Amino acid sequence: MARAVQFDRYGGIDELKVLEVPTPKAGPGQVVVEVVAAGINPGEAMIRTGALHERWPTTFPSGQGTDFAGRIVAVGDGVGGLQVGDEVLGFTENRAGHATHVVVPADQVTPKPANLGWDVAGALFVVGTTAFAAVRAVAAGAGDTVAVSGAAGGVGSITVQLLRARGAEVIGIASEANHEWLRSVGATPIAYGDNLIDALRAAAPDGLDAFIDTYGADYVDIAVELGVPVERIDTIINFAAVEKYGVKGEGNADAATIDVLAELADQVAAGDIEVPIAAVYPLEKVQDAYRELEQRHTRGKIVLHP
Ligand SMILES: NC(=O)c1ccc[n+]([C@@H]2O[C@H](COP(=O)([O-])OP(=O)(O)OC[C@H]3O[C@@H](n4cnc5c(N)ncnc54)[C@H](OP(=O)(O)O)[C@@H]3O)[C@@H](O)[C@H]2O)c1
Repeated sequence: MARAVQFDRYGGIDELKVLEVPTPKAGPGQVVVEVVAAGINPGEAMIRTGALHERWPTTFPSGQGTDFAGRIVAVGDGVGGLQVGDEVLGFTENRAGHATHVVVPADQVTPKPANLGWDVAGALFVVGTTAFAAVRAVAAGAGDTVAVSGAAGGVGSITVQLLRARGAEVIGIASEANHEWLRSVGATPIAYGDNLIDALRAAAPDGLDAFIDTYGADYVDIAVELGVPVERIDTIINFAAVEKYGVKGEGNADAATIDVLAELADQVAAGDIEVPIAAVYPLEKVQDAYRELEQRHTRGKIVLHP
């Protein structure tokens, strides 16, 4: 038997249970991965509450989790290039990553670079592909000054570093607790709060060229007020602002490929991107993991160990 996180109805964190389930089998073209680490994401919490029912309805019992890393334990017919024992990272589109075992099409895993840590590997897909899409959306490069809200969160922390890698100057909006870390990756930190607009003007006296919003609230309004061109504003969460202003809303779905994941894994393994691991919880403590995530002050990623 395997163990998997499940919930039987929309609701709070208390709905999450870890249950014994049949170990999945590898059908044609599939592999079964024994999961070593699996990241958790705010979107999963929103799905669980029912807040995304119109957009992404679920059926019950529902599993949970997209990101994972682990070892292949079964290979289906017709799969080439992968073997039992291979260390991989990948993603599932079936809300099934928070489990001891997950079955996925073989083209949804990629070899884990030997020096890529398990926790980062297991948490990379959603945030990495989202950051990749957001940075591409605003077409930032050398000579640009770009502000990022939620700059030390799962998506924000990678976004900041991808922008730096492209040569952009980065202003990272975050609480004081994250300022030293932001400086360590080459960003200029500023605190959010009442004086944010003045602080952004002071930090970018020649103006902001682009803005990536990974938090929501009024950050897109602020970017527009500061004169950032709408085609160089991307929000991954405020879709009302996408409608209102015509800013971009590119995220995970725009870069959710195994090739992007493999590229990011190589960049992390090479030391070009740091993904802070804020906390690790055993699978049985999945409720505690989401309680911490829902505080919305995670630096980097929270990871489950099945
Ligand atoms: N569209 C997509 O494809 C997509 C994909 C992934 C995620 N998302 C969404 O994007 C959001 C971020 O996801 P995530 O995984 O990066 O979340 P996360 O890891 O939980 O990050 C939350 C971050 O928000 C920061 N924060 C808290 N209050 C803030 C404020 N008032 N102003 C600015 N920053 C603040 C926190 O930093 P401090 O501790 O410094 O306050 C923390 O680092 C979520 O709403 C998620 O649902 C969308």
